[in-house]
Amino acid sequence: MKKSPSTSGRSRSFLAALLVFAVLVALQSAVSCRVPPPGRGATPQEDLYRQNCALCHGINGGGAQGPPLIDRPRSAEEVRAIVVAGRGEMPSFSDKLSEEQITAVAEYAAGLSQASSGR
Ligand code: HEC
Repeated sequence: MKKSPSTSGRSRSFLAALLVFAVLVALQSAVSCRVPPPGRGATPQEDLYRQNCALCHGINGGGAQGPPLIDRPRSAEEVRAIVVAGRGEMPSFSDKLSEEQITAVAEYAAGLSQASSGR
């Protein structure tokens, strides 16, 4: 039996609509990936900082339970040494974070401290 042309035309436009929809969904999720959900940082470094340091040093390094980081600019190496060894009330992170994570979070925290210097 021969299919009527109108039926196949409809299913073709249905497929086209489906394709457009799929592309839109893909685009939307690609865009929404770049907007971090609340509580998460824009970068992996910021994530690490928020998860491991912000509780004591504040989301922006302004201090909380621990001292503010933004008062004293420190190099990433200095921060790294403190994060590895711990200091006073601050625990060592050497068994909690990997070498790469410690380096990343130290760079981020040093950036916080330097961004505010001179203010
Ligand atoms: C449990 C709370 C706590 C957490 C979590 C914590 N810190 Fe600290 N941090 C402190 C305290 C308290 C001090 C002050 C220690 C002292 O000098 O006696 C400190 C000191 C520091 C200092 C030295 C500040 C200065 O200028 O003298 C740096 C840098 C630092 N922390 C970075 C970090 C980073 C990066 C993280 C996350 C990996 C982190 N801290 C996590 C409590 C914390």
